[in-house]
Amino acid sequence: MNYQLLTQAFETYFNAKPTIIVRAPGRVNLIGEHTDYNDGFVLPMAIDREVCIALNPRGDETLRLFSFDLQTDAVFNLHSLRPSDGWEAYPQGVANELIKAGYTLKGFDGIIAGDVPRGAGLSSSAAVELATAKAFAAVSGFEWNAVQMAKLCQKAENEWVGVHSGIMDQMASAACKAGYAMFLDCRSLEIEHVPLPSHVSVVILDTSTRRGLVESAYNERQSQCAEAAKRLGVKALRDVSLNSEKWKAASEKMKEEGELGKLVFKRARHVISENERALEAVEAMKKGNVKRLGELFNESHESLKNDFEVTNEALNIMVDCAREQAGCYGARMTGAGFGGCAAALVNDENVGAFVKNVSAAYRLKSGLEASVYVCKASEGASLI
Ligand code: GLA
Repeated sequence: MNYQLLTQAFETYFNAKPTIIVRAPGRVNLIGEHTDYNDGFVLPMAIDREVCIALNPRGDETLRLFSFDLQTDAVFNLHSLRPSDGWEAYPQGVANELIKAGYTLKGFDGIIAGDVPRGAGLSSSAAVELATAKAFAAVSGFEWNAVQMAKLCQKAENEWVGVHSGIMDQMASAACKAGYAMFLDCRSLEIEHVPLPSHVSVVILDTSTRRGLVESAYNERQSQCAEAAKRLGVKALRDVSLNSEKWKAASEKMKEEGELGKLVFKRARHVISENERALEAVEAMKKGNVKRLGELFNESHESLKNDFEVTNEALNIMVDCAREQAGCYGARMTGAGFGGCAAALVNDENVGAFVKNVSAAYRLKSGLEASVYVCKASEGASLI
């Protein structure tokens, strides 16, 4: 982000200089997809695309926020919050959860701007939420507890905005470390920062397709997973492994139980195998085994495509185009799916040619224009 531009915009709009700038990043998930709401494992990294707020504290309890990207403002009193359906629902929801959790909030004048593509599966909403929380921490003078802030922001998204996402995006935006991916146990919320292998880049491949009706499909997947856990007699799918007797017996039974049984079986097989892949990916990263990491990317995509059924044609084409390029170790869709982005693991030496050629190949096969970013693993929410 261009902080100077943001400062200038603040000066123009509020006729004063901002005293504080905060930022929170978007994320790309390396592996562990649709596992977070199954108490499983994920491996996201924060990217160098972020949401920033330049601000000045006010003496009262009013929040006045101008969206630079949408060129609209929102003004509300922190003690009479009512949900609205615009972008301001995110900062409102965060304020509401912070207040409910007992924080005393002070108001501020702020300009919010970002360069995380919206609806692309790179967690622009978590970035808005965490930037808001960081802004309140700075203005109101409370201590920053990344895990607690992530949980409150997730609650804001679930209950105020009404999107039933898991905890991964908020944890990534709150707690990632520059240069590292973050291995997260979504049950205990224990974190391990795992360094990215040297000589490879993570390349984000935006298909330019956007997920429609994602919420209903996402919620449907959640209930199918819950149904599978119930049939398996476990708290969550995290508690099952593929070579356990429990899985062998239950999966045979599911397959015999008509269409629904077969569907639930496939959903469960994705989640259980994806958890195993996420665990193996961390080991591969620690050993610098990029080849294996790339294979796990590929296996993850196939499972999301065939068993979890959350890819679309554009994502499948993109992944195929990426895998054909020299120096690509593996590629997979990332985020919720149904459109949005894929991520590829590419040898540094080949990155320049990869970016050029993958875009051309994708254009040829899909007729669509891709946006391609080579991204850097960046720091979770911070003060500038
Ligand atoms: C979205 C949700 C996350 C997670 C992913 C899929 O990004 O917000 O909580 O479930 O989809 O892995």
